[in-house]
Amino acid sequence: MAESAGDRARSDWELAGGEAVLRPAIAEFVDRMFDDAMIGFMFDGRSRTRIAEMELRLASAQLGGPLRYTGRDIAEVHRRLPIMGGQFARRRQILLNTLRARGVDEGVIERWIAHVDALREHIMGSGAVEHCDHAAQAARLAPRAGTEGSR
Ligand code: HEM
Repeated sequence: MAESAGDRARSDWELAGGEAVLRPAIAEFVDRMFDDAMIGFMFDGRSRTRIAEMELRLASAQLGGPLRYTGRDIAEVHRRLPIMGGQFARRRQILLNTLRARGVDEGVIERWIAHVDALREHIMGSGAVEHCDHAAQAARLAPRAGTEGSR
């Protein structure tokens, strides 16, 4: 498998098309997450612009691009979010679908998803729940329950 010197010198970021391809791809990925029936509610009140910028910068850091990650510590950001296994998998699938639909190189996608999977423990935390956490769900829905609750 002769790999040309040019290929070896190119980062995954460049192989994927660089910022020209990845900025709009990640903007779409973030839009899809915000509008998703399964995980969209988690992003209520958050800034699409900030999350898209931070996701782009993180991807750059992971894929050998020129942008530096300037966001908060990943474990810290997600610690207070009651993220379940299915929701982690949903985000992963949305990323995969978005990158594939845009024709990003399959090898790059594979290595990108490996970075995602490597962060799973940090996102889910040590007390990760793989099943429905009804107490957490009830607590989250309580302020919206309005007419049904006792107050
Ligand atoms: C490997 C997987 C993940 C990565 C790499 C990731 C990455 C990020 C990044 C870079 C930010 C912005 C940090 C900042 O503002 O400084 C962020 C914020 C956020 N992420 Fe994730 N994320 C992951 C998984 C998830 C999942 C599975 C969910 C929910 C289904 C989620 C929900 C959120 C929310 C709600 C915020 C905004 C938090 C806030 O502003 O306080 N993330 N994520």
